[in-house]
Amino acid sequence: MGLLNSACVVLVLFGLPFVLNSGEYVSTVSEEYLSALGDPGMKNPYVRVALEAWNFCNEVGTEAPNMGSPSLADCADRNCPLITGLNGKCVIHHRVNESDNNLRAGDKFPAMDFKPYTNPDLYAVEKGLYLASLCEVHDNSSDPWQFWTIMLKNGNFDKNTTLCPENGKQVSRIVTHRNFPCFGEGCMNQPLVYHNYSRFVSNANQMLSAVGGFYGTYDLDANLSKGIGQNSYFSVSWQKNLSTGSWIFSQRLTTSSKYPWLMLYLRSDATKGPNGGYHYDGRGMMKKLPVSPNFKVRLRLDVKRGGGANSQFYLLDIGGCWKNNGKPCDGNVLTDVTRYSEMIINPATTKLVPLEKPYDIRDPYSNPQAQELVQILPHPEWAVHGYPEKKGDGWVGNPRTWELDVGALSSRLYSYQDPGTEPATRVWSSINVGTEIYISRAGETAEWTASEFDVLVPEGVEVDGSSSYCNHPFCNGRN
Ligand SMILES: *[C@@H]1O[C@H](CO)[C@@H](O)[C@H](O)[C@H]1NC(C)=O
Ligand SMILES: *[C@@H]1O[C@H](CO)[C@@H](O)[C@H](O)[C@H]1NC(C)=O
Ligand SMILES: *[C@@H]1O[C@H](CO)[C@@H](O)[C@H](O)[C@H]1NC(C)=O
Ligand SMILES: *[C@@H]1O[C@H](CO)[C@@H](O)[C@H](O)[C@H]1NC(C)=O
Ligand SMILES: *[C@@H]1O[C@H](CO)[C@@H](O)[C@H](O)[C@H]1NC(C)=O
Ligand SMILES: *[C@@H]1O[C@H](CO)[C@@H](O)[C@H](O)[C@H]1NC(C)=O
Repeated sequence: MGLLNSACVVLVLFGLPFVLNSGEYVSTVSEEYLSALGDPGMKNPYVRVALEAWNFCNEVGTEAPNMGSPSLADCADRNCPLITGLNGKCVIHHRVNESDNNLRAGDKFPAMDFKPYTNPDLYAVEKGLYLASLCEVHDNSSDPWQFWTIMLKNGNFDKNTTLCPENGKQVSRIVTHRNFPCFGEGCMNQPLVYHNYSRFVSNANQMLSAVGGFYGTYDLDANLSKGIGQNSYFSVSWQKNLSTGSWIFSQRLTTSSKYPWLMLYLRSDATKGPNGGYHYDGRGMMKKLPVSPNFKVRLRLDVKRGGGANSQFYLLDIGGCWKNNGKPCDGNVLTDVTRYSEMIINPATTKLVPLEKPYDIRDPYSNPQAQELVQILPHPEWAVHGYPEKKGDGWVGNPRTWELDVGALSSRLYSYQDPGTEPATRVWSSINVGTEIYISRAGETAEWTASEFDVLVPEGVEVDGSSSYCNHPFCNGRN
């Protein structure tokens, strides 16, 4: 994800749509759509939130001092007495406690089936799976689900280190003429993360609902109890919208001189198999994987502060993976290609990216495999699918509830394939909303809320695009 980050091909489409099947697109109005999510519309009373932090190459590298592995969760249930009226009070039950969240590389997991790797990259993956096992919900359906995911990423890159593999291989030295932000040794550090565990608050109607949050900074010498000051900052908090019953996720992201390039997303990831940007199995929210052209995404987005001219705010970034021959990815880093498509709604964006032709930036470090990134801006051509039509739509001061025909739009966008190969089935394992504030040393702040998020897929469609694999350099064939 990201413009100058981890991309092999970037196409910025200003309006000229790449219509592949001109005239063939027919909307399938008669079909019944069902939610693909464990928490449809974010209306579940359970709190299910995970937080993960990545360095430039989507790894941990080194854990922050006195912090656990940067994979945390807040999973809380509301336990109410079965017999009401006997001054029974609902209590909040935390499925993930502090000792779980504080686990760091090398620590033994309380459950036998998780391996205590000493490598921080591998440990974070394992910890994510462990936390997911605590959070997992087995409701009516046969498909369990785990959590919404908050993803944080630091864009600093220290070329003197060998923390990032080159095209998936460990190298002894990094040779590139590209410049990246880095203030010196340790610039790729993980953040200090603090946690407000979910707790009940009662509202005007004496109803109990949970509130909670994560917040922190990348500036390791910061003392946030004295205020944010000139430091980098991120926060995400959740509370219920009392009229709709939806969770409201409020996010804030602030860059600083040492951390001028930061990313913060709310992700709806697949509940099994690999997700966009990963090269190992993850956990998440989507029990069924959406496939182009038949799926829709609903959400309410209220952007309160934009984050400056370099803030690439995505009213959806969707991620999937298929090979240039059209076949699904199988973990072979030499031929797998991660595909992203994004709409950037910051009206200032045109100034940042005046690209009208395919743009190849060849960055072999930020991801283990090739990536294709297609970015679009608001335009009447996309508005027929429910997307913003013009600059400023959905931006600061224009909160909206969107019903996006992401399936239809994503089937129209250009995606490279070898000549003469069968068109790929476009399966999307990750659907995200949030921003990437690209190099902004002066300290820019973005603030927004997302709620009522849902992913709708046609009834009766069973897609299992989740070939389980791990192609991490350290995985050695482990799945
Ligand atoms: C935290 O939860 C884990 C897993 O359920 C359990 O093994 C551990 O004893 C708990 N720790 C504390 C301090 O409650
Ligand atoms: C649970 O399953 C039953 C029977 O299939 C169905 O009637 C009910 O609506 C389901 N409930 C939920 C919450 O999905
Ligand atoms: C990388 O090494 C060069 C040469 O030793 C040095 O000038 C530079 O400051 C180093 N960069 C970082 C980020 O440490
Ligand atoms: C955390 O809790 C403190 C104290 O209640 C509150 O001031 C702060 O806004 C909360 N932050 C988040 C991100 O939840
Ligand atoms: C942070 O600031 C608070 C309030 O000034 C102070 O009590 C605390 O000791 C400081 N913490 C550290 C680690 O310096
Ligand atoms: C609750 O949801 C409604 C409908 O989407 C919206 O108009 C309202 O602003 C939301 N309330 C809050 C506090 O976000």
